[in-house]
Amino acid sequence: MELMNVINSRASVRWFTDEKVKDEDLETILKAATRAPTAFGAEQWLFIVVKKEDIRRKIHEIILKIHREYYEKARIRKIDENRLKKLVDRFKEGLHLAPIYIAIYIDLRERKLKDKYLWLEEELAKQSACAAIENLILAAHNLGYGTCWIGLALLAEEELKEILNPPENTKLITIITLGKPKMEPKAKPRKPLEEVIKII
Ligand SMILES: Cc1cc2nc3c(=O)[nH]c(=O)nc-3n(C[C@H](O)[C@H](O)[C@H](O)COP(=O)(O)O)c2cc1C
Repeated sequence: MELMNVINSRASVRWFTDEKVKDEDLETILKAATRAPTAFGAEQWLFIVVKKEDIRRKIHEIILKIHREYYEKARIRKIDENRLKKLVDRFKEGLHLAPIYIAIYIDLRERKLKDKYLWLEEELAKQSACAAIENLILAAHNLGYGTCWIGLALLAEEELKEILNPPENTKLITIITLGKPKMEPKAKPRKPLEEVIKII
């Protein structure tokens, strides 16, 4: 696809078919992620790719749990019991159950800055990881795969640590779901540019 077409037609995908992600496609997608700009040229990112059935199931359960927490406790707007039950049912039917989960970490095992600049290194590693994530998402979409950015994964960082066993000095940024979309993703509208830009 032409780049602007890829960008403009992407949408989050939350329902996936059972079709496997081809190894060569996964490699293309991960390579695209690592082509992102990276602070200090340091590539302080780590991608833990989950394919194993038992681990996928555990992650799916965690994703349900954190979405429940979000709806029940975090959101300002209340959700009624009926909608909550519907959410649980949709998870049982496969909402967010993906053939692949990719957990993205920042990896600070090798430091580039020192002393009072350590916070800056961490913040820029996060920014670099987010750039990589967007590359990954767009590359996946270009190859006909769908993704969803599961930012709520941060609510389960400790639990995910036990399952994924990341090295020391790494920090979870997010989990991305990856697979063939069950239905054609439809791009959502955005605020008009005038609302979100200020030209000075
Ligand atoms: C930082 C971030 C965190 C997100 N976290 C979640 C999440 O935990 N669960 C979810 O279903 N979608 C999540 N999303 C997807 C957004 O809901 C989605 O991008 C938004 O509704 C706009 O829809 P679109 O991606 O189809 O354009 C997240 C997106 C971003 C960028």
